[in-house]
Amino acid sequence: MTSPHHPPGVPDNSSAPVATPRPRLWSERNMAALYDLLVVHGTYWAMWGVRWPVIAELYRANVSGNHLELAPGTGYLLNRVGMPSETPRLHLLDLHEGPLEVSARRLARFQPVKLQGDVFQPFPLAEDSVDSVAAGMMLHCLPGDSITAKAVVFDNVARVLTPGGRFFGCTVLARDVPMNWFGRLSLRKVNDKQVFCNLGDSLADLRSELEKRFDDVSVTVHGSVGLWQASAR
Ligand SMILES: C[S@@+](CC[C@H](N)C(=O)[O-])C[C@H]1O[C@@H](n2cnc3c(N)ncnc32)[C@H](O)[C@@H]1O
Repeated sequence: MTSPHHPPGVPDNSSAPVATPRPRLWSERNMAALYDLLVVHGTYWAMWGVRWPVIAELYRANVSGNHLELAPGTGYLLNRVGMPSETPRLHLLDLHEGPLEVSARRLARFQPVKLQGDVFQPFPLAEDSVDSVAAGMMLHCLPGDSITAKAVVFDNVARVLTPGGRFFGCTVLARDVPMNWFGRLSLRKVNDKQVFCNLGDSLADLRSELEKRFDDVSVTVHGSVGLWQASAR
């Protein structure tokens, strides 16, 4: 629904969940010292059943030379894969300063532009201005009782992508995916601690919310992680 004072072309995000910043959790120190070791090389596989090279393949297949990285973390995957251009244009968008600082340092060779903001709000980029957008391991951190409640993020992505531009990413799901006892226990713990908010996130909703907004949607599952790639209309 569009509010009476809403500018045309910009999604109306007034009913989107509200993200609460957690600067201590996502501090520069935690990101630089712990994230790659504990998360990328640790929990990705141990808790959620996906190895980082599988996600790197998704990047390799979809990243462009004019790319927006949502919630870059430490920039680990983009750094491993690189950008297919001699004159790359890279934007990094995150709610927290820590990940922006750490990823910008690591990706300095691409001269990234840092944007501090909430993915629930329209991105500070022009319509049809980027050729690829990645959202790796981000949706499960966002507030909302389902993927549908979080799908305003997909509207924001669709607005900035050029037609045919690629949207790809991955997220830990809690419904319609296999999970062993350790995964279930971990899922409960990270939701109790409000690091994740994904108990209502299902594979079916992920697929259908993407299909509402994008073409050529492909979703695969590794462990309890849904990985997607799609084209902008
Ligand atoms: C689990 S990390 C993912 C990092 C990286 N993309 C990866 O694949 O490992 C989650 C990231 O989401 C960011 N984040 C959390 N809520 C956000 C929001 N509402 N808007 C933008 N970024 C957010 C955090 O600051 C953090 O960088």
